[in-house]
Amino acid sequence: MPNHPTQDSCPSHEPRVAQDWLDPVLLRSHFEGKSIFVGISGGIAAYKVCTIVSRLAQAGAQVTVGMTSAACEFVGPTTFGALSGNPVYTSSWAQIESNDPQHIALADRCDGALVAPCTMNTLANLVLGRADDVVSLIVSAIDRKKTPVLIAPAMNEVMWNQPSTQRNVEQAMADGFGLVGPGDGWQACRHAGAGRMSEPQACIEALADALRG
Ligand SMILES: Cc1cc2nc3c(=O)[nH]c(=O)nc-3n(C[C@H](O)[C@H](O)[C@H](O)COP(=O)(O)O)c2cc1C
Repeated sequence: MPNHPTQDSCPSHEPRVAQDWLDPVLLRSHFEGKSIFVGISGGIAAYKVCTIVSRLAQAGAQVTVGMTSAACEFVGPTTFGALSGNPVYTSSWAQIESNDPQHIALADRCDGALVAPCTMNTLANLVLGRADDVVSLIVSAIDRKKTPVLIAPAMNEVMWNQPSTQRNVEQAMADGFGLVGPGDGWQACRHAGAGRMSEPQACIEALADALRG
């Protein structure tokens, strides 16, 4: 018998959240009619975001998904298009909604945003104010004084503990981003440690809290 935990049985050290945060009926009072941007970057934990997008859409939110090109290597945009019921932004240059600078219109109507999984690279981009992929471009146009933007980091423990990552997390919070997780536990690289993306219910709960203000 292997003595390491499996992905499904991993004892997470995150605080337990009520299962109700995945219940679309309960979620309606928080998300119905809200415009939510979900930015996905290139990590294995992209699979968890399928649940987040699906539950928010079932709760009546207008969910728009943006994906970096690395994210598209993990889960296809077709899946997020189907789950959200909306076109998926995978390029800054594709005219999806209009010929205007559509990232501005999307950012303007957004009530809240979640970047999950937030890779080491995307975290660095957001902190530096880079806007050269569609996720960082859309996030760059969201006014965080009015609209909450949460990031859910997800990476290997060594990457998480790098001084650059820790500096970037601190700076992100100082710059007004909200942080969800990460938790401790089993990672796809077959190590257990810090850096595991928070579970969907924790992300949804954090988003609901942030929308309440
Ligand atoms: C199989 C595989 C899994 C990866 N998982 C992660 C991850 O969980 N977190 C992370 O920060 N980077 C991860 N990376 C590295 C990122 O995909 C890479 O840094 C990429 O450039 C990130 O681009 P993005 O931030 O624009 O999405 C992974 C790479 C590979 C090949």
